[in-house]
Amino acid sequence: MRTQVGIIGSGPSGLLLSQLLHLEGIDSVILERRTQDYVLGRIRAGVLEQGMVDMLRKAGVAERLEKEGLVHEGLSICFGDRRQRIDLKKHTGKVVTVYGQTEVTKDLIDAREAAGGTLIYEAENVQIEDLDSDTPALTFLKDGKQQRLTCDFIAGCDGFRGVSRRYIPEDKLKIHERVYPFGWLGILSETRPVSDELIYVNHWRGFALCSMRSPTRSRYYIQCAYDEDLEEWTDDRFWDELRIRLPSAAAESIEMGPSIEKSIAPLRSFIAEPMRHRHLFLAGDAAHIVPPTGAKGLNLAASDIYYLSRALTAYYKDDSRTDHMDSYSRDCLKRIWKAERFSWWMTTMLHKFPDQSSFDRGMQLAELDYLFDSEAAQASLAENYVGLPY
Ligand code: FAD
Ligand code: DHB
Repeated sequence: MRTQVGIIGSGPSGLLLSQLLHLEGIDSVILERRTQDYVLGRIRAGVLEQGMVDMLRKAGVAERLEKEGLVHEGLSICFGDRRQRIDLKKHTGKVVTVYGQTEVTKDLIDAREAAGGTLIYEAENVQIEDLDSDTPALTFLKDGKQQRLTCDFIAGCDGFRGVSRRYIPEDKLKIHERVYPFGWLGILSETRPVSDELIYVNHWRGFALCSMRSPTRSRYYIQCAYDEDLEEWTDDRFWDELRIRLPSAAAESIEMGPSIEKSIAPLRSFIAEPMRHRHLFLAGDAAHIVPPTGAKGLNLAASDIYYLSRALTAYYKDDSRTDHMDSYSRDCLKRIWKAERFSWWMTTMLHKFPDQSSFDRGMQLAELDYLFDSEAAQASLAENYVGLPY
């Protein structure tokens, strides 16, 4: 088999890249190790920046998003008995859209299939070969048969636990990492969201977040130990703990119901650089992870794909032009470091740290107090939350 761009992974990064390339007449093949049902069953992010919405529009997959997405002009931060609304629209003129990653993935898969795109699911043991030559290849096992896909370029869109990052030589790859000493326990339930806007809570028992997927579907998170046993969290125990952490008006009015999904996510900050080695380009979680506070993970994947699709399009459409390829890693990382900073800052301000000293706690309280009293601090949060420009 032969294609122009071989893509490893059918998460949002790989699918969006494939769709944008298709619209430019550039051929790609996606290799995914899981089944399509598995990919579509994952519940992950839910808040889209305007830049990502614009990308999905450009990719021709925003029809359902425009009908079903919920536009949010603000969010709340709570701590003690104080609640501060951050007015995104007032401070930035921009908004965010609540629309689940699962739905984004579904819309992209539908579009790729409708256009006759090649998505190979259950591709096992994907490996990269001949990366130093002009005809790199992806090899994999499909239905027990060894296959080889020759490409011009390879996009490593295979998430944090993928294989592609390993192909950047050790002496060239620099890793920056922080692992946080806690996780998030999240549930999805067919209940009315407790508020029209998201609520982020700093509580002495730990962080909590009220989010949603639709007017009838809520998504709630509470901070938990990183090695928490999911089995020990019955729905009743989850709702009790969530209500303790919420402001009393929200705790009293919250609609409770059975969970339809429940999972624990670890929190990590991680950056691998450079994001390119010869004909291989890393994008999305394959190159970086942010802790979820601030909702940046999915949005960063989209901005990487903006730069990568620009680089590949310039190459194919503009006489093998390579300047955007040469600056790909630098262009992405400039934005990634700032999103990492914002996610780290939100995480540090809003969580309970097990080894926190009285000084650390004092800093956290001063940070919140400053945010609540300063329009400038609120404007800074808003500017980052709606997404820095690409
Ligand atoms: P992924 O979505 O991880 O896609 C990678 C794809 O590659 C997967 O389909 C995987 O099966 C496939 N793959 C992996 N290895 C191979 C291989 N060897 N061969 C072939 N295919 C392979 N972000 C937020 O902003 N808010 C959140 O609330 C949030 N919650 C999250 C919860 C969890 C449990 C996780 C893991 C992430 C969460 N994120 C969240 C982050 C966000 O979901 C990611 O940033 C986003 O999915 C990145 O997209 P991606 O396409 O780069 O990677
Ligand atoms: C969601 C996740 C986040 O990390 C966040 O900051 C906001 C919302 C969500 O899953 O809805």
